[in-house]
Amino acid sequence: DKGVHKHFMAKEIHEQPTVMSYALSQYTAADRAAVALPGIAVDFTGFDRVVMVACGTAHLACHVAKYWFEQLARIPVEIEVASEFRYREPPVAPRTLAIFVSQSGETADTLAALRYMRGRAAAIAAVVNVLESSIARESDLVFPIHAGVEVGVASTKAFTCQLTVLAALAILAARQNGRIDAAREAELVSALESVPAAMAQVLAHEEVYGPLCWELSKASDVLFLGRGAMYPLALEGALKLKEISYIHAEGYASGELKHGPIALIDETVPVIVLAPSDALFDKTVSNMQEVMARGGRILLVTDQAGLSRASEGLWQSLRLPPVDPFVAPILYAVPAQLLAYHTAVTKGTDVDQPRNLAKSVTVE
Ligand code: M6R
Repeated sequence: DKGVHKHFMAKEIHEQPTVMSYALSQYTAADRAAVALPGIAVDFTGFDRVVMVACGTAHLACHVAKYWFEQLARIPVEIEVASEFRYREPPVAPRTLAIFVSQSGETADTLAALRYMRGRAAAIAAVVNVLESSIARESDLVFPIHAGVEVGVASTKAFTCQLTVLAALAILAARQNGRIDAAREAELVSALESVPAAMAQVLAHEEVYGPLCWELSKASDVLFLGRGAMYPLALEGALKLKEISYIHAEGYASGELKHGPIALIDETVPVIVLAPSDALFDKTVSNMQEVMARGGRILLVTDQAGLSRASEGLWQSLRLPPVDPFVAPILYAVPAQLLAYHTAVTKGTDVDQPRNLAKSVTVE
């Protein structure tokens, strides 16, 4: 049932404040000052490295988590696309934790990669939405994301709930490795706690996306840029847009712009920059100036502080509530989804059942 929404995707985008709050409540202590796993024991001091394997949007959640685990817990993380990983048959170091992320828990390549790791990794963990799935059944540790049934082929609430659970695990790993104290842990948890309300604020101003996406719908190519943990969000924004609006879109690390993609820039290629005002913001501003100097049109997605530092010469902007940079990738998923959704609606494509795509890719 779509309720008041025209599409399941819209309904699922709007469910995010609620499902994220619930997911978080399942991974935090009653006083909301620390991470607490729901009856699952995991000791990250027993692992030297983490390998995360997934496909599509789930892979991009792993990509964000790599930044979190490495920065907070100082554990080296490799992220892998399941279809490459399984056929490459890589050597696996002992004391490796393998984490498989999948909404459906049935993605053929992810499942095959899991089976490859059986007997090679020290432990196998699954971050899944569907608990009765093959990937959940074949894992030693199962971390449910509690997103509820996701119908739209374009993954939305599963992505933000995957991020929520992976963020909680990264905080736990940091604590177990002695990298953060109780006060820092409470700060990180409270940053996560602030996201659902910030998401609700973004959703309350959804009307700004209509006119913006009418402009975007005329483009045949769109670039997304991001730095740090916003780089995977740039990839996710591009994946969502191409998947449901059929507009060609690419995501790049902002710093890679001058190594090739800048050759594409002219006034016909909108460049969407996902850049909360964080430690890397000024670097991104100089990348934006390079785009503008070549006649490129920039849509900057940032917060008030970001806009006051870099509003000059922008084509368009979206202002988001300020959040701790740690949780920005979760919040910035929402405008990325809304941009794709409203562009697709403007173009009249089949939002919930985009051509050539299946919700769950159970054959390779
Ligand atoms: O069920 P899974 O999370 O394993 O699915 C992985 C991908 O097929 C999925 O995320 C796909 O990329 C989505 N259609 C993206 O919106």
